[in-house]
Amino acid sequence: MQLPDTAAIVTGGASGLGEATARHFATQGAQVTLLDRDGERGARVADEIGGHFVQTDVTDEGSAAGAIAVALERMGKITACVNCAGIAIGMKTVGKDGPHGLEPFQQTLDINLVGSFNVSRLAASEMARNDSDPDGARGVIINTASIAAFDGQKGQAAYAASKGGIVGMTLPMARDLASSGIRVMAIAPGIFMTPMLAGLPEEVQQQLAADVPNPPRLGDPAEFGRMAGFIVEMGYLNGEVIRLDGALRMR
Ligand SMILES: NC(=O)c1ccc[n+]([C@@H]2O[C@H](COP(=O)([O-])OP(=O)(O)OC[C@H]3O[C@@H](n4cnc5c(N)ncnc54)[C@H](O)[C@@H]3O)[C@@H](O)[C@H]2O)c1
Repeated sequence: MQLPDTAAIVTGGASGLGEATARHFATQGAQVTLLDRDGERGARVADEIGGHFVQTDVTDEGSAAGAIAVALERMGKITACVNCAGIAIGMKTVGKDGPHGLEPFQQTLDINLVGSFNVSRLAASEMARNDSDPDGARGVIINTASIAAFDGQKGQAAYAASKGGIVGMTLPMARDLASSGIRVMAIAPGIFMTPMLAGLPEEVQQQLAADVPNPPRLGDPAEFGRMAGFIVEMGYLNGEVIRLDGALRMR
């Protein structure tokens, strides 16, 4: 599958890693539909890249199904689904104010894990109807994990659990969808310079960058976009999680 022939939906496409993915795909000639709950930014990015935008809450069944229907109508097919919508929270299991709230834990799992599965399952159902290429391929799903799935830090119980879920479902989804010619991959990014990170003080950013062995800097969202593009085009990659982190191991 080559990017110029790809019709992709990108969740979280209004910002950060999703936006960079949408920009890279569009630059390479792919059709792109952004799904994001941020209406203003989503519409702006879609306009800039010549793509489409549907305001979507990935956790909501009806909202995601409606967005996929619009994407199909606008692009004629969906051959790639990149899930980047997500949130990050920091909260200890027991903190100064008592036990971790259950609501923020559930919300983090709902957006990062359930939201990714919700969009993936609906997109896969449509991809299964695509004509296959000579290799039998009909589509590819790329979910966004995090290195926190493997080396989560203090305060990351909810976030790391949500990303561990992404890692855990990668292989069974790849197996489930193999007979339909749909691959399932995940990218586990290290620390990337997205709006989430740019809000931190300069010295904190420098400290984070200094912990990355090589190259000693934060990841560029464009590098995530290129990795997603590589996965689309590399048809033998399936059922695997790729760390993209400059060898960072969080302590
Ligand atoms: N930035 C990093 O260093 C980093 C590292 C590891 C993993 N990640 C993961 O990458 C993904 C993207 O992160 P980012 O840094 O680009 O964040 P970001 O905040 O820049 O972008 C996230 C986007 O998701 C959207 N979103 C949130 N909840 C949504 C919902 N319910 N429905 C639809 N859209 C929703 C937001 O509106 C936003 O546009 C997240 O899953 C994050 O956990 C990021």
